[in-house]
Amino acid sequence: MADTLTPVLTADWADEQSWKLATYERNGGYRAVRKALAMAPDDIITAVKDSGLRGRGGAGFPTGMKWGFIPQDNPNPKYLVVNADESEPGTCKDIPLMMATPHTLVEGVIISSFAIRANKAFIYIRGEVVHVIRRVQAAVAEAYAAGHLGKNIHGSGYDLDVVVHAGAGAYICGEETALLEGLEGRRGQPRLRPPFPAVAGLYASPTVINNVESIASVPSIIENGADWFASMGTEKSKGFGIFSLSGHIANPGQYEAPLGTTLRTLIDLAGGIRQGHELKFWTPGGSSTPILTDEHLDVPLDFEAVGAAGSMLGTRALQIFDDTTCVVRAVLRWTEFYKHESCGKCTPCREGTWWLVQVLTNLEKGVGRESDLELLLDQCDNILGRSFCALADGATSPITSSIQFFRDEYLEHLSNQGCPFDPVASTLFTAEGAF
Ligand SMILES: Cc1cc2nc3c(=O)[nH]c(=O)nc-3n(C[C@H](O)[C@H](O)[C@H](O)COP(=O)(O)O)c2cc1C
Ligand code: SF4
Repeated sequence: MADTLTPVLTADWADEQSWKLATYERNGGYRAVRKALAMAPDDIITAVKDSGLRGRGGAGFPTGMKWGFIPQDNPNPKYLVVNADESEPGTCKDIPLMMATPHTLVEGVIISSFAIRANKAFIYIRGEVVHVIRRVQAAVAEAYAAGHLGKNIHGSGYDLDVVVHAGAGAYICGEETALLEGLEGRRGQPRLRPPFPAVAGLYASPTVINNVESIASVPSIIENGADWFASMGTEKSKGFGIFSLSGHIANPGQYEAPLGTTLRTLIDLAGGIRQGHELKFWTPGGSSTPILTDEHLDVPLDFEAVGAAGSMLGTRALQIFDDTTCVVRAVLRWTEFYKHESCGKCTPCREGTWWLVQVLTNLEKGVGRESDLELLLDQCDNILGRSFCALADGATSPITSSIQFFRDEYLEHLSNQGCPFDPVASTLFTAEGAF
């Protein structure tokens, strides 16, 4: 069973003081930087392209190709921005990585910045996680003191400054253009594209924005080679990734495995569903990816197969819900989150998420009507693809997928006049007390 795991990013997490520079260097850290600084920047981009690394922030865009879009003839400075906002419900891989081995990220930042010819990089961290911000700041300070950052790094003639920026705590600031607005000191709302950030991003200059895990994967690619990375995973989804198991599972946590592993394998590794219960539904990549059920235990967890199963790999945030969970209530909680986090820029999302919560609240209390299910689907249809950014699309995913798989459970709330999972609920709410 153990060979189904491929610990690379997580390999040293259990070391004593794994976050310190001395520990990281003892484990071979910063070797890849020295190797990279002796390479031509374009050769680094080629290596990352050849490795097949695809963005680990959710969408899976090829990382090397993104770097190749930076117009090197543009006279403006180039910037690297690391997206460390991690606010999607269920997603919990970047924060443990930054806590356990922040130098993996710092080393990745140096190599990636060198490749795209940036002399300034930003790490944008979600504002609520002050302990993580402090940890990354301390790692950056250690890297400066050791000469890994600053002027003329290791005598290469290459200069790089890194700024650790604390966000103000908004899910929308994980969307890359809203993040740039926040970084520039404005209200975090998405920008119209084109122009794309590669052409006009931070301060209207060419900018690469990558997820923490994407950037942290780069040192291992440089150290071990593109072929090594590409030898893991599936044909179009190469390499390894951190799979975060949470919820009703015996041993929740981070399981680093090749892309294409299955939930069945990961559940086995995690000691099974909690004792005495069965899997009911799960998310493959956070709450904005359509839910799947026990029918999908053997779907390879790669971008293509999860897409073919009707969902998205997203951030590999595997939230496990057993047979004690009310799917309607879970979906309502997620929808309340999206309503709260809607930035308000466009009407379908701002108004639509509010209406979704109203209809779902009634259904969950058992005081709605059967026709509310069609109303919900119609509302989702008016939001999906008609909003300014993907936050709103994500808000519809749990609703449409839960109605697809659990329509009967929605109807049971109506016939039961309350939640069948909560014996008290049906006596609490009546048709008169809907809102
Ligand atoms: C509402 C919303 C929230 C997002 N939050 C994050 C986030 O916290 N971290 C992240 O890396 N990407 C997030 N993304 C995706 C980013 O816009 C972007 O695709 C990603 O940072 C690109 O990095 P990658 O190519 O390395 O995956 C979010 C997207 C949306 C629409
Ligand atoms: S879809 Fe929602 S979060 Fe995105 S721009 Fe529109 S209102 Fe803002």
